Amino acid sequence: MIEPPGQRSKEIIDCDCDVMSACLARPYPLVVDRAEGSVITDVEGREYIDFVAGIAVMNAGHSNPVVSLAISAQLEKIAHCGFPDFYAEPPVKLGKKLESLTRYDRVFLCNSGTESVEAAIKLAMWKTNRQNLIAFYNCFHGRTLGSLSLTCSKIRQKEHFPSLRVVHAHYAYCYRCPLNLEYPDCGISCAREIESLIFKRELSPDDTAAIVVEPVQGEGGYIVPPIEFHKEIRRICDDHNVLMVADEVQAGCWRTGTFMAMENFGVRADIVCMAKALGAGLPLGAMLSDHEIMDWPPGTHSNTFGGNLLASAASVAALEYMEEEKLGSHAKELGGHIMQRLREMQSEYPVIGDVRGLGLMIGVEFIKPDGSINPGLRDKIVVEGFREGIVLLSCGDSVIRFSPPLVMTREEADTGLDRFEAALKRAVK
Ligand SMILES: Cc1ncc(COP(=O)(O)O)c(C=O)c1O
Repeated sequence: MIEPPGQRSKEIIDCDCDVMSACLARPYPLVVDRAEGSVITDVEGREYIDFVAGIAVMNAGHSNPVVSLAISAQLEKIAHCGFPDFYAEPPVKLGKKLESLTRYDRVFLCNSGTESVEAAIKLAMWKTNRQNLIAFYNCFHGRTLGSLSLTCSKIRQKEHFPSLRVVHAHYAYCYRCPLNLEYPDCGISCAREIESLIFKRELSPDDTAAIVVEPVQGEGGYIVPPIEFHKEIRRICDDHNVLMVADEVQAGCWRTGTFMAMENFGVRADIVCMAKALGAGLPLGAMLSDHEIMDWPPGTHSNTFGGNLLASAASVAALEYMEEEKLGSHAKELGGHIMQRLREMQSEYPVIGDVRGLGLMIGVEFIKPDGSINPGLRDKIVVEGFREGIVLLSCGDSVIRFSPPLVMTREEADTGLDRFEAALKRAVK
């Protein structure tokens, strides 16, 4: 761990080390104090441009006054009622808002991404009366035991833990094609292997409840598949009567330009998982589907905090704000600008092997001269970024992700990218 930037940070980190579970992994000693828009201030008063948004959560911006007002107004009335056992307006408003944005007419509310995935797994199993699942290499769907069974990102996350039966297929990671093929000549063989290999040799479609897929892989390395990939998954699900679950937890809420990232691919899943940005900073998850699928009877699934009134009020305010401000279009525009600047850097710094993204979900993959992954350099740049005054996070084996608040301005992005280039220069020196 590098030296904290001041005494106050050091005191808090020392105390944190005394009390917090050792399973948390922090890349550098940022101790946050407050934030506004896309700028975070630490407890020393230093300002950072935020390329992380609290792990793709603060899409509507930090301290958004519209969201803060909605939370305060709800707090004055009642914070929590145990919505799964009673009725209240804020979660119903949220359900209706989600219906108008997605055209799914049923929603189950929960508190996190992993819980929305658990709910999707249970619904798929309940509806099909089958227990097996298909997911993808590099995917991340959460850390509770059901979602962890799907997750296939880092072995540390899985070792020593039991699993549901999940078979993993190759995702369309075209920069490092797992089948050593070239797009488009490959004919999307990675997806087709589900049919030609998995369904023939390993797992019968008649025993498969669902194929669970991220529209854009997040924790696995911000991997954007070609448009045909999801269309092929959809076709396979239709041909074999298997449900398709889209995990929109990281990519959803206009991060990629459209409300659901799957819209970019012209594909409609049977079940959708959302969380992160949905709660605008409060814990909230949602599992969406249609009434023909989500027709499980009362008592089949429930919780205590789902539909929490503060989280629901925050969510409705944030969704309305993001829609009115057209943050989806802004994400596309600003994402294009950031990608262009990163590609200019790529032509100057051969350590950048790939720049890829959709909207404001952008990944930069670092390589060694022989083209292999370079996690050491990647980690160094993340730390140097902190010293320069930007908040960055890694993902995948050798990738830095850019997932800023969708309210970031072009000026802020440019200042942040200048700092990123300075960090890169220092790291490669
Ligand atoms: C695609 C995806 N699904 C699920 C999760 C789990 O969400 P949570 O950490 O809220 O449980 C994440 C978290 O990063 C994610 O990126």
